[in-house]
Amino acid sequence: SVMVLDFGSQYNQLITRRVREMGVYSELKPHTMTAKEIKAMNPKAIIFSGGPNSVNGDGALAVDPEIFNLGLPILGICYGMQLMAKDLKGGEIVTADNSEYGQAQIEVTDKDSKFFKGMNDKQTVLMSHGDFVTKVPDGFEITATSGSCPISAMADPKRGFYAVQFHPEVNLTEEGREMLHHFVFDIAGAEANWSMDDFIEDAIANIKETVGDKKVLLGLSGGVDSSVVAVLLHRAIGDQLISVFVDHGLLRKNEAQQVLKALGDDFGLNIDFVDASELFLGKLKGVTDPETKRKIIGKEFIDTFSTEARKFDDVDFLAQGTLYTDVIESGTDTAQTIKSHHNVGGLPDDLKFKLIEPLNKLFKDEVRELGEKLGMPKALVWRQPFPGPGLAIRIIGEVTPERLRMVRDSDAILRDEFAKAGLNKTVWQYFTALPGIKSVGVMGDERTYDEAVNIRAVTSVDGMTAEFAEVPWEVLGKVSKRIVDEVAGVNRVLYDITGKPPATIEYE
Ligand code: XMP
Repeated sequence: SVMVLDFGSQYNQLITRRVREMGVYSELKPHTMTAKEIKAMNPKAIIFSGGPNSVNGDGALAVDPEIFNLGLPILGICYGMQLMAKDLKGGEIVTADNSEYGQAQIEVTDKDSKFFKGMNDKQTVLMSHGDFVTKVPDGFEITATSGSCPISAMADPKRGFYAVQFHPEVNLTEEGREMLHHFVFDIAGAEANWSMDDFIEDAIANIKETVGDKKVLLGLSGGVDSSVVAVLLHRAIGDQLISVFVDHGLLRKNEAQQVLKALGDDFGLNIDFVDASELFLGKLKGVTDPETKRKIIGKEFIDTFSTEARKFDDVDFLAQGTLYTDVIESGTDTAQTIKSHHNVGGLPDDLKFKLIEPLNKLFKDEVRELGEKLGMPKALVWRQPFPGPGLAIRIIGEVTPERLRMVRDSDAILRDEFAKAGLNKTVWQYFTALPGIKSVGVMGDERTYDEAVNIRAVTSVDGMTAEFAEVPWEVLGKVSKRIVDEVAGVNRVLYDITGKPPATIEYE
């Protein structure tokens, strides 16, 4: 394995990710790990991540200096490089007047460098730093340079120490993956022998050990993360897992049934299904304000889940599908802090569970891979994002059974046609919404005064920003025709051509 020591860079998790992609196990560990602890874990190499601080500043994060005597190859990235220059004899660092951020050209000056082996002299890299190294430590040589950063990379091949001022883990460093590949295989001599199967084996062993003969409760939402956690836990502890599925009545067409079939019937999960749709609809009656809707749904959800949870005694654990990206603290502590928006937020005080979060070292696409490896259906594993408050925030104005039917049925038509056109593979998220507009139309010889339906389809990477998808007119035409033909009460279909920002993806 390759151990990544964390100095707080926003890219720290990407480093472990890049190494795992090569088939080598990698984990992020706190920078406070001692040389002894590291040795006990027996990694092939260590990578120091970047970090936002200055190595000379107050509160600079340090490492156990004994780490340099372990005889292990070390790659220092950005802050990691400066730290090496600070800790190893002979190195010097200064803080620049202006920090450098952006793509830059570096020139590889050491033709024999193992790190840059077989690469062009000129490399485009992402630089992001305030400090820089002005003098390499004893035994090091400069291996790459640039106008604004004369020591862009340095190495002491004898000790296996390599360092770069730029970020090889990001795509903006065009050949960064190859550089990391050189470090992991050619320099550290690691073997590509890790796969998702190993992850499953380890995770199952860990879960068994942690849980013992106790029971685990899980809030099943139908989303990818909670479903994958459920199947993984079920494989580890079988019926000691109790999955509570609260149907708030705001799910997509047939969604609850599909989840019950896929996870309950096909996988044999023990699912406590709670149909709370009438309760939720009742509470939402007459409510039109977006935030009030969200608050009501959130509160009712917790209340319903808690009531269920109290029915089961001797439950010690609560499982959650928290992903790496949901973990606020940069992975430094084993006891991690959870984002406030986790699936079952803020349970009442009398419900005290220990948390288990078997996915908290994985990225979303790794979770999907895991789901497939566990034999879950593709439709479940590749499902698009769906908001906790469900269809309620896609209905502007009051949520009534009639309007729910309109948004639900039109959404089913849209999904059907997108799948037929193969757009479900390229468009990141797509759904219909009721904008709350009534307009005049004509159907047959009759004047109508009915609702409009909005189509929303966006491309995005993480939902933080998005562009409207360029959907072929023909597909939009088909969807539009089917919606007005098949969904009573709708006489007009609109296509939303706004990105995020300035709009959001959802409507409320
Ligand atoms: P917005 O509307 O903020 O949505 O542009 C960004 C992404 O987040 C999803 N979303 C939610 N997911 N609970 C969730 O689990 C929520 O309350 C929620 N609100 C929005 C949305 O579907 C989109 O993918």
